[in-house]
Amino acid sequence: MNWANLMSTINGNSSSQLCRWHSFANTAELEKSAVTEILRAAHEAIQKRGSFHIVLAGGTTPRRVYELLKTANTNWAAWHIYFGDERCLPIDHAERNSLMATQAWLNSIDIPTSQIHPIPAEEGPLIAAEKYAALLSQVATFDLVLLGLGEDGHTASLFPQHDVGNQANSPATLAVFDAPKPPPQRVSLSAKRLSDAHQVIFLVTGNSKKEAVKNWRAEGKIPASTVTPKQGVDIYIESQLLD
Ligand code: 6PG
Repeated sequence: MNWANLMSTINGNSSSQLCRWHSFANTAELEKSAVTEILRAAHEAIQKRGSFHIVLAGGTTPRRVYELLKTANTNWAAWHIYFGDERCLPIDHAERNSLMATQAWLNSIDIPTSQIHPIPAEEGPLIAAEKYAALLSQVATFDLVLLGLGEDGHTASLFPQHDVGNQANSPATLAVFDAPKPPPQRVSLSAKRLSDAHQVIFLVTGNSKKEAVKNWRAEGKIPASTVTPKQGVDIYIESQLLD
């Protein structure tokens, strides 16, 4: 890590979300630091609790982080993989978040397949949301949640002007039928369930996210700001998005 580039600030905002902004001079530095932190979190969880339950981000940003994890020295048998959201597409569709993670990482490590939990989104939003909620009812607080940020401030498949599931009685999963980011039909973990985590890291790269970051740091009223784990969130971001 190039410490000169790492500016970590604590920045509260109007919502109840405590944000720690970690800025990096370039994407490669951000990705390397993210891998280091993921492996540190895994080591700590495995030491303390004997296992590591991680929720993967979808989209394209995390791909290189997943590729770098392929060669990590860790006890894969203790890892349990979940997904923050999934597009309702055939299981082998190129746009599936589960396919991206599998091709970039999961099919190259010896993690028991019974410990990889894709969202069965090929079955449609309602059935898949119900099935995944049933699975998650057996899963304690996540050790780590990875999330991306969309240009409109969405995260996972929690979109502006949609129910983000951040109420006390919100379900663990949400069926989405009219997502503004194609495909329209998706399944997402709710903000409430994403917040039930020991640690949450957002990975934010790409100039297209600049406006969403500005809104986030100003009023904190974007879907990403409804993820409010007790310990706050860590946002790994390219420095030019903070100018
Ligand atoms: C999805 C993702 C979504 C993604 C953001 C950022 O299924 O589309 O879960 O929330 O993380 O849209 O996408 P990029 O990483 O491709 O910019």
